[in-house]
Amino acid sequence: MEKIIEVRGISKAYGKRKTKEKIHAVRDVSFDVNRGEVLGLLGPNGAGKTSTIKMLCGLLESDAGSITINGLDIYKKRLKALEHISAVLEGNRNLYWRLTVRENLEYFAGNRGYSRKQVAYQADKLLEQFNLKDKENELVNGLSRGMQQKLAIAVALLANTDVILLDEPTLGLDVEVSYELRNILNRIVKEEKRTIIISSHDMPVVQELCDRVIIINKGEVVIDDRVENLLRLFETRAYSIKLGEELSINQKNKLLSRFPLSTYKASSHETIVEVNLEHGQDIYELFDLLKEEGTMVESIDRITIDFEQVFMQIVKGGMTNEMATPIQC
Ligand SMILES: Nc1ncnc2c1ncn2[C@@H]1O[C@H](COP(=O)(O)OP(=O)(O)O)[C@@H](O)[C@H]1O
Ligand SMILES: [Mg+2]
Repeated sequence: MEKIIEVRGISKAYGKRKTKEKIHAVRDVSFDVNRGEVLGLLGPNGAGKTSTIKMLCGLLESDAGSITINGLDIYKKRLKALEHISAVLEGNRNLYWRLTVRENLEYFAGNRGYSRKQVAYQADKLLEQFNLKDKENELVNGLSRGMQQKLAIAVALLANTDVILLDEPTLGLDVEVSYELRNILNRIVKEEKRTIIISSHDMPVVQELCDRVIIINKGEVVIDDRVENLLRLFETRAYSIKLGEELSINQKNKLLSRFPLSTYKASSHETIVEVNLEHGQDIYELFDLLKEEGTMVESIDRITIDFEQVFMQIVKGGMTNEMATPIQC
């Protein structure tokens, strides 16, 4: 696969003015992006997502390492390299607030050197794709945050660059607009095969749109894998076990201390243990624990898991790529 972005060992530390203390926002981050790939950059607040995106689009200089876009080093061939990338960051600074929706699209299409006819065609296409037709003559200034965000993304697409960076595209949007934007982006990524990097902690966005995810925590890459692999991996570790009888207090204590990500539910008609194992092999330990007192097992089922749970376990459980190697069956 053709690599369009290569990031090698980038780091960024911010200095606190008062205390002179350094905040290491990004530490030795490396990854590649393939052409046509939709990559999710995930991480909790403060993980270093925005700093990474800003370094990719040249808004922030890294303290170390290198970034190339289409083989061009963004520090040595800055202008040429940055021609291949457009970004939508918080605050939608890529829009003209005193122009209307249509004027913004036409202005940026014109900037690309399109003919008058093509400009009108591009503007119409994007108004349609982003459900903005009924707002075309409204000033950006007066639009809701959701509408502004849709327009900002439309403008970024218009630039027709090889790579588009979207920093938290659904952050702060209400549920409805967020859902709509997810659908619009889904349609675009399926139809147009653009290379897109989306930073987010909105897991449905990631699960639906991204081929691959990089999870960063405290400035470091902890996971770099395909979404489907991660889901499959975690599904092989999540079980619901129905027991024929209640566990003794001793077994229960052992269960909860050895498998802190498990729940134990005992009622008058059933006893269920749900576990999320850190390693696939841990299932044997669980069975040893049940065997100790001859506890009857009535059924074992896999639990379906969504990306939100995967993310929480990776970030909370401190998992890394080495630990993510699936067990051989
Ligand atoms: N301009 C800045 N000055 C000082 N610290 C900053 C600045 N920008 C970000 N940080 C700090 O760097 C860390 C990473 O921030 P950021 O890249 O915005 O993370 P994210 O986008 O994942 O929330 C955080 O601890 C944040 O407080
Ligand atoms: Mg951010």
